[in-house]
Amino acid sequence: MKKISLALLFPVLVSAAFAGPFEQLRRGLELPAVPGPAFSPEAPGHLQGDGRFWVTVAAQDKYDRSALLNAGLDIVETGRYSVSGFISGGELEQLAAKGFQVKSRQSIQDYARQHLKDFPLNDAAYHNYKETTDLLVKLAGENPAETSLFSIGKTTEGRDIWCLRLNPAEKGETPSARPAAFFMGNHHGREHLSNEVSLALARHLLQNKNAPEIRKFLDTLDIYIAPMTNPDGAEYDIATGKYRWHRKNTRVNADQSIGVDLNRNYDSLWCQAGASHYPGSDTYCGPSAFSEPETRAVRDFVLARPNIKTLMSYHSYSSLLLYPWAGKDSPVENERDRKVFEALAKGMTAYTGYTPQQSSDLYVATGDTTDWAYAARGIFSFTTELEGTTFYPGAAMIEKASAKNVKAALYLLGATDDPYKLSR
Ligand code: ARG
Ligand code: ZN
Repeated sequence: MKKISLALLFPVLVSAAFAGPFEQLRRGLELPAVPGPAFSPEAPGHLQGDGRFWVTVAAQDKYDRSALLNAGLDIVETGRYSVSGFISGGELEQLAAKGFQVKSRQSIQDYARQHLKDFPLNDAAYHNYKETTDLLVKLAGENPAETSLFSIGKTTEGRDIWCLRLNPAEKGETPSARPAAFFMGNHHGREHLSNEVSLALARHLLQNKNAPEIRKFLDTLDIYIAPMTNPDGAEYDIATGKYRWHRKNTRVNADQSIGVDLNRNYDSLWCQAGASHYPGSDTYCGPSAFSEPETRAVRDFVLARPNIKTLMSYHSYSSLLLYPWAGKDSPVENERDRKVFEALAKGMTAYTGYTPQQSSDLYVATGDTTDWAYAARGIFSFTTELEGTTFYPGAAMIEKASAKNVKAALYLLGATDDPYKLSR
C-alpha cells in the first residue's frame, strides 16, 4: 500500500522500508539509478528457454477463435477481426498450414522487452502467496465470531489452497444447511488482479459486517472465498523478479514443459475443444480430467457442499461476465436455469459495466470450472474476466476493479438464498 512514485524517486530508501508484495519484482525495477522513462530494459533473461510467441491472427468470429484455441493459441485479446495471444513455437509453425493468417508474430522475449517499458512500478500493492496467506490469517484472527480459515487441499508444489469461510454459525469444514456462495480467484498464475478482487471482497464483508445489508448475508448464508486457486502458478510468475506471463500450474510435464491449464482440466467435455493435448501449450488440458491437485481440491470442495448455489471464478482480462455453456455452442438447455443465468448476469454487470454473454460466444473451450460446477451440481457459476488491457495493470487497478466487482458480488449474494426467485 505504499506510494509507487516513491519507488522511482527514492529507490534506496524505499527498498529499505519495504518488505512486502512482489519484493523481488520491485528490486528488479529499482535498479536504474535515475528516475523516469529512461529505464532501458535488459534482455529478459528470466524468459530464457521460453519458446512462446506473441501473435496476432485473423479471426472473424467465435468459430475462428475456437479453431485457433484448438490449434494451441492461448487467446488473450479479442478484437473485431483478429485475436492476439501466446502460442508455442511448434504450434505457430503449423498455423499457416491449418489455414490461419498470422498478421504479426514476435518471440516472447521481444514481447517482454517491449512491455517491460510499461511494467507498472507500483505492484507492491499486490499480494504474493505469503502476503495473501498472512492477510487471510489476519482477517480470520480479527473476526473469530464470523470466520474460519482452512485449506481445501495442497497444490502440485505442496502449498495450501486457502479458503476463508464467512459463517458465524458453522466453522471450518462442518456442513451447513444455509445456501452457500463460492468465490475463487487466480486459477491462472499471471492473473494477479483476480486474487486482489477476491481479497477485497473478503475485506469488504468483514469491515462492514455490522451494516444491516452485510449482516443479513452473514446471518443467513454460508460464504467461501478462495482467492488463490493456483498459488504455484502465481508464485512462478513472479519468482525471477520479473513477470513471466505464466498461466498454468507448475506440474513438470513428460516433455519437461511446465504446467497444465487448470481451467481446461475440469471434467466437463474434457479436452474436446478449445484446449490442447500438447503439454507445451498454454491451454494444455493435462493427461486426464482432474489430473491436477488444484482442480481436484476444487472438485472435492464443491462435491462435499451440496448447499453451494452460486459460484464466481475471477479471471483477467477483457471486461466480460461469462456463463455456461463454455464447452458447446448451444445455450443451457433448462429454460428456467437459462433465465436465472441471464438475470444474474444482467444484475451483476449493471455494477461492473462488463459485457454479459454465454462463454462460448467468446470461444468454445471445454473443461472449465463453471461448466463442470453447473453440470455436476446445478450451481449458477460465472467467470468474470476483470477489466484492463494487460495482465499487469498496476496498483491503481486494484481499487478500481474491486469497487465495482464487490458490488456485483453483493448482488450475487443477494440472490444466493434462492436464485430461482429471478425466474419468477
Ligand atoms: N479466459 C478464460 C479461459 O480461457 C475464459 C473461460 C471461459 N470459457 C470460455 N469458453 N470462454 O480459461
Ligand atoms: Zn484466466
